[in-house]
Amino acid sequence: MCGIVGFIGNEPVYEKIIKGLSRLEYRGYDSAGLAVIENNELLVRKCKGKVADLQNNVGSQVLGSTIGIGHTRWATHGVPNDVNAHPHFGENKNIALIHNGIIENYASLKEALIGRGHHFVSETDTEVLVHFIEDIRDSEQVSLFEAVRMALTEVVGAYAIVVLDQSNPDELIVAKKSSPLVIGIGSNDDYYIASDATPIIEYTKNVVYLNDEEVAKLNRREGLTIVNIQNQKQTPYIQELELKLEAIEKGGYDSFMLKEIHEQPRSIQDSFRGRLNLKQGVVKMSGIDDHEERWKNAGRIVVVACGTSWHAGLVAEYLFEDFARIPVEVEYASEFRYRNPVLFTDDIVIAISQSGETADTLAAIELAKEKGAFIFGVCNVVGSTISRATHSGAYTHAGPEIGVASTKAFTAQVTVLFQMALALAEKRGTLSSGRLSRLVAELNSLPIKITEVLKTNEQVEQIAQIYKNRSNALYLGRGYSFPVALEGALKLKEISYIHAEGYPAAEMKHGPIALIDENMPVIVIATEGASYEKVVSNIQEVKARKGQIIAIVTEGDKTVKAMADHVIEIPRTDDSLVPILSAVPLQLFSYHVAIMRGCNVDQPRNLAKSVTVE
Ligand code: M6R
Repeated sequence: MCGIVGFIGNEPVYEKIIKGLSRLEYRGYDSAGLAVIENNELLVRKCKGKVADLQNNVGSQVLGSTIGIGHTRWATHGVPNDVNAHPHFGENKNIALIHNGIIENYASLKEALIGRGHHFVSETDTEVLVHFIEDIRDSEQVSLFEAVRMALTEVVGAYAIVVLDQSNPDELIVAKKSSPLVIGIGSNDDYYIASDATPIIEYTKNVVYLNDEEVAKLNRREGLTIVNIQNQKQTPYIQELELKLEAIEKGGYDSFMLKEIHEQPRSIQDSFRGRLNLKQGVVKMSGIDDHEERWKNAGRIVVVACGTSWHAGLVAEYLFEDFARIPVEVEYASEFRYRNPVLFTDDIVIAISQSGETADTLAAIELAKEKGAFIFGVCNVVGSTISRATHSGAYTHAGPEIGVASTKAFTAQVTVLFQMALALAEKRGTLSSGRLSRLVAELNSLPIKITEVLKTNEQVEQIAQIYKNRSNALYLGRGYSFPVALEGALKLKEISYIHAEGYPAAEMKHGPIALIDENMPVIVIATEGASYEKVVSNIQEVKARKGQIIAIVTEGDKTVKAMADHVIEIPRTDDSLVPILSAVPLQLFSYHVAIMRGCNVDQPRNLAKSVTVE
């Protein structure tokens, strides 16, 4: 949801800004812009479209500036166009500001500023903020640093901002609240600012994650100064990044999505590395061990999440209830916030988020905290806002996921939730040691099985060729496979723009069956397990109405093969682990359909990777 970068140092920044914005483009790609101080003048270029359009817009101008800021936008206030693109300026056009977030009280601030003679050209909340800062600086005769701090005491909303002042080419001012911001500290008095570490990693590994309501000054002579919004000086906490450059590059694949799908044998392994004890047949998770009594005595688990992470939460519902016998409720974070949920003192809230920045999930966490709940985070991005806002947690360790459609993050989330369910089952004595050992061993074998599933790629591509021009698709699954049906449908709609619905297979006869005719592809997860026979009956019901069946089956299956139009075989595994294997061919199917339809799989229209607005 908007990516921001800033650089100040001894070298020209133009290439760094462009490269940094390209790395952050997954956060939004409605428009792009930059501002540098070139020959003592504020030079601003911005346009609707992607970073490549911005590059064309800058053309062959050689930019030698050693200070600059850049922005890639996911539109909130105002349509994506050149005027609404960031950076925005103050009245006198000498302060430029980039922003990720939403200023909720922008309308009242704007009205007051208009009364004080300010003029606005865009529809954005960001332009109001830069005018407000300028107004305070000029009327109170304070430094820009102080003006930013003072302005933010009156701002309601979320922000990560970088401010550049033409009259001070030696300084950038940054601040954040509820939107992420990282400062990289280079070896040569160079400073790097970005929404996440990916634009920084090739220059330095030393970073400071700014905390909420902190304002920082990066000055060529004075270095880094941080104050909180109450103007108390803060000591920067410098951390070393573990991220590797290769992890954020395409590595020979045509898209990040395809790379990330193929990374799953490794990402799943990484999400259980160091947690499985194969000899004893148990799972060790420090986030659970450290709060053992609380978990043992939990009366209920409430999962809050959005999108794909919510689907992982649904799988967790089956896992926790099945293995650990704890009742579970799975909530859309956005809905949880806007009712008056009942939370008990022995409830545990699990927040699941790949990015760790999703505003709805964060708001649900804050609400649950107010009600005194214990919050456990399952996040992928290390150091993210949600991972810091929770009381305890477990990282998924899937590595950076850059494709907007979540793939390896989903399977890693399910892997972590599976381990949590086993760890709890052991503590609560709800599974026999034999069953526990077998499940631990089965989890350990999954990376090899995923490698097998990936070999279906060409077959899936052929099936995609047949169905690529359909307008609708239905996904069916039962038990553990129901959330996978939802996830398969989400993948297809978000990257290929084909309307798709996921349903519990048995629910089909209560309505959706009316949609079935010879044009409706029905993708069914029909692996062996508790509900296999029932799903076979559902397939027959579809076939009786001339629907076309693409079935995900267990290897060697004959029954479904005899009735389906296409079958994709996956290795045999425990019912509870099928979601991790069966998600993969569905990811590949969506990928191929989208590519065949000419869609940009990494940056689907209207979407952004981290949704930092509510
Ligand atoms: O970063 P999060 O896991 O919190 O993101 C939640 C959703 O925004 C995300 O899963 C979204 O639905 C993806 N586009 C799914 O592919």
